[in-house]
Amino acid sequence: MKETVRIGMIGAGHIAHSHAEAWQKEASLTAVASRRVESARSLAERHGIPHVCRDASELLHRNDIDAVGIATPHHLHHPIALAALAAGKSVFCEKPLALDGSQAREMWSEARRRAAKTGVQSGIRLFPALRLLSRLLREGRAGNIHTFDAHWSFDWARDPGFPLTWRFRRAEAGTGALGDLGVYMIDAVRWLVGEIAQVNAELAVYIPRRPVLTSPGHFGELRRLHRAEQLEVSRETGPVENDDVCQVLLRFENGARGSIRASRLHQEHSIRIDCERTSYRWQMTGDRRLMERSKGAEYTPVEMPEPPGGGTIVTTFLQNIRRDEDKAPTFRDGLAAQLVIDAAVRSHETGGWVDVPNAEG
Ligand SMILES: NC(=O)c1ccc[n+]([C@@H]2O[C@H](COP(=O)([O-])OP(=O)(O)OC[C@H]3O[C@@H](n4cnc5c(N)ncnc54)[C@H](OP(=O)(O)O)[C@@H]3O)[C@@H](O)[C@H]2O)c1
Repeated sequence: MKETVRIGMIGAGHIAHSHAEAWQKEASLTAVASRRVESARSLAERHGIPHVCRDASELLHRNDIDAVGIATPHHLHHPIALAALAAGKSVFCEKPLALDGSQAREMWSEARRRAAKTGVQSGIRLFPALRLLSRLLREGRAGNIHTFDAHWSFDWARDPGFPLTWRFRRAEAGTGALGDLGVYMIDAVRWLVGEIAQVNAELAVYIPRRPVLTSPGHFGELRRLHRAEQLEVSRETGPVENDDVCQVLLRFENGARGSIRASRLHQEHSIRIDCERTSYRWQMTGDRRLMERSKGAEYTPVEMPEPPGGGTIVTTFLQNIRRDEDKAPTFRDGLAAQLVIDAAVRSHETGGWVDVPNAEG
């Protein structure tokens, strides 16, 4: 059993700050690399990380690092993860795992071939009320699941003046709202309801062009400057290449049906599950309690039988390393979600139901 896991982070942008806090709480955060060394240095100073590397390759060749955390734009997840696995590291990767299913499959099969531990970001699984919901559904007292409906939307891109960052470009981001936000609900349904057999999806762009950025910036900083009307952008605009909004109808292997809507133009976070005997609903606003309704009754809060767990997004990954386990979410879950994303894209292009391939296939 390995008690202290030494971590190297690649990517020092917006979400990297949350990663740094999680790693420091549960492991030994040893080094950081980014595209611009000044970003890595600034993250290192803020979080007290001892080593700053010139680039990802330098970090991967350090022998005082056991595991690598990837927090970069989506197109870099695949090459960095493969290089990290080749260097003998365990790998934790931000979502979505890759740009498409073939990249994700290669990442998962390479990890398996090397018997490496992997993890993928899945913050949804940390909400105490949803952990309770998962347990209640598994215990089966609500009966068979009939329908699942979820919204996962953040309105950071609602203003057409928000600039054209990598998130709007297919080569760097892949899909838009679907891969950036819908992926959370794809992971949630696989966890709460079961495997998805078929999808029928529509992807929409409402703001087709956006102003070009004049200098690079991290997501949170761009949002802050934009809100304060202090962000410099060019008069020139460029095309938005992926979806602002997606809606995906789902058919599950166990006979349940469902829908997911994700948007970067609107704000809503809710999950509703209707079963034979009970309906559940949950919202990320307010007290975030799980509500339930059985026949003839109003919705009432479900009592939380256990104190909320204090885990972070990296807890399971680190436990898998320490205990030599492979508990979800691993790259296999990232691959399964990616296959649903690919099927949704095909459905949008062809206009009908599309089968979701098996992650083991
Ligand atoms: N933003 C959120 O709220 C959020 C939430 C959950 C998950 N995520 C996920 O987290 C990941 C990163 O998103 P973000 O919002 O943090 O992006 P971001 O703020 O744009 O930061 C991206 C980071 O990646 C670095 N990078 C770019 N090219 C690189 C390269 N070739 N080698 C090494 N590093 C490189 C950037 O380098 P520089 O510092 O040099 O510019 C920057 O540090 C994505 O997978 C995203 O889906 C984001």
